[in-house]
Amino acid sequence: MSEEEINKGRNFLKTSSLMKGGRLQFESDQLKKLPAPPLQKPYPETMTLIDLIKPEDFNIGEMAFIDVINKRRSRRKFTKDLLTLEELSFLLWASQGVQYIIGGGNATWRTVPSGGARHPFETYLCLYQVEGLQAGLYRYLSIEHKLYLIREDLEKPFSINKTLVAPAPIVFIWTVIPYRTEWRYGAFSYKTIAQETGHVCQNLYLASETIGAGTCAVGAYNQELMDEYLSVDGKDEFVVYTARVGKVKQSEKSLLRMAESLHGYRSRK
Ligand SMILES: Cc1cc2nc3c(=O)[nH]c(=O)nc-3n(C[C@H](O)[C@H](O)[C@H](O)COP(=O)(O)O)c2cc1C
Repeated sequence: MSEEEINKGRNFLKTSSLMKGGRLQFESDQLKKLPAPPLQKPYPETMTLIDLIKPEDFNIGEMAFIDVINKRRSRRKFTKDLLTLEELSFLLWASQGVQYIIGGGNATWRTVPSGGARHPFETYLCLYQVEGLQAGLYRYLSIEHKLYLIREDLEKPFSINKTLVAPAPIVFIWTVIPYRTEWRYGAFSYKTIAQETGHVCQNLYLASETIGAGTCAVGAYNQELMDEYLSVDGKDEFVVYTARVGKVKQSEKSLLRMAESLHGYRSRK
């Protein structure tokens, strides 16, 4: 790496260039009184919306919190078991569910935190093994807590050599619409957005464990192929993070063996 690359990368992680004396050093579009962007990307009105199970009707997710934290692991091997619609609803709600629309309709409170409550992400799903739903690429409408099917072709972009995202019972794909955060935070947005992807995926990890499922975050996806697959422009909306999810039945020993072979680590346990 060049000195320039190192400094650029490290500076991205700092707040110092944009914050002086506890104040952000820029004039945002919000301060300029420009209209706030929509809370959610619009969707075609012709789409048939699929109802999900509402959070107040969940009968799952009741594992003791200490056990959930202790069980969390990246899981890459899934059983053939289908996930139920309730389980899928729970995972979507846990990772991006909207609880309130606040700020006169300009922001949302969700199950995860977001700088300035901007919540710049959209959730897409490749569903292979969910009870009652045909396999396909779907989008989650977090405000409505509903799904719609975008299309049925799944296999092509998930060839492991091309994207490093192998098929799984469910593949979560999060895109970012950067202006939703830029409107408020200008150039300060990018570190915030990167931090927030972790919050979203961590909730997915924890929620998965409570239903006998498991998650593996996948940062090593093919940017261009994934953007193309979702038909997003790669500028005003692009993929930022993905995760594989499925039912799991794997001993700690075999998880350790897998981690060793993946990373070249030797464990002592
Ligand atoms: C930002 C991020 C990106 C990751 N990307 C990948 C990935 O592309 N492929 C993969 O198999 N695991 C990926 N992982 C999972 C890590 O390999 C995993 O967290 C690590 O090996 C520790 O194991 P644990 O999560 O079970 O504690 C990623 C994790 C994070 C936080």
